Amino acid sequence: MKLEICPDIETVSQIAAERLATMIRAKPDLGIVVATGNTPMPVYAELVRMQARGEVDCRNLRVFQLDAYLGINDDDPRSLFGWMMRSFITPLGIAPENVVRFAALPPDPPAECLSYAAKVRAMGGYDVAVLGLGPNGHLGFNEPPSADDAPTRVVALTEQSVASNGHYWGGPDAVPRQSMTAGMDLLLSARAILLVVTGSRKQIILNQTLHGPVTPQVPASYLQTRPQALILADADAAGGKTA
Ligand code: F6R
Repeated sequence: MKLEICPDIETVSQIAAERLATMIRAKPDLGIVVATGNTPMPVYAELVRMQARGEVDCRNLRVFQLDAYLGINDDDPRSLFGWMMRSFITPLGIAPENVVRFAALPPDPPAECLSYAAKVRAMGGYDVAVLGLGPNGHLGFNEPPSADDAPTRVVALTEQSVASNGHYWGGPDAVPRQSMTAGMDLLLSARAILLVVTGSRKQIILNQTLHGPVTPQVPASYLQTRPQALILADADAAGGKTA
């Protein structure tokens, strides 16, 4: 695991987008799994600007959904698929057939999780995972405790995730209690992992991720065991430190 600390969110986002652009130039059909949540939004916006300036062409990317709330249809404002479409797929002009997703209202959610994981594996796994850090150390919706071999599955959200995701949807009552998530096994096998961490509310959990014990209680701590992981943090998240 490598750590790079930048002075502010803008710099984090520029560096993250530039790293992704370098990978995309080398492999235009890169397989990328993309987090929603607030943290990576400026990264995606920067990638869109780079594409508009002709600096990168993202249209042939193969994109994988990271996670989905259970019981939420695509036209619901809380749909994470919808958020990924609005922030990444549509502005970058990626064809819907190049997107691997979780079905919105699967009749058998555990079977849907198996089917998603089988598709990812059949496509050779993820080239790159762009992830945010949950306030409880989750990656995707791999809630604590999640070990490094936790599979793609249905997960019950912890109270901390419900509270934190309540910020997106106007309060905890609007947050679904279950989700489907790409497993730790798939995420930690990505050939490159980019964890973006910004803001002072991530200070304690970032410190545990970087320096605490490697434990299922902090799923992101498994990144310590992954040389292909780069953590890009701003000074607020890194406790005021800049590189
Ligand atoms: C989103 C996701 C979550 C978020 C994490 C951080 O698809 O899987 O793991 O990345 O909760 O959220 P923000 O960026 O809003 O702080």
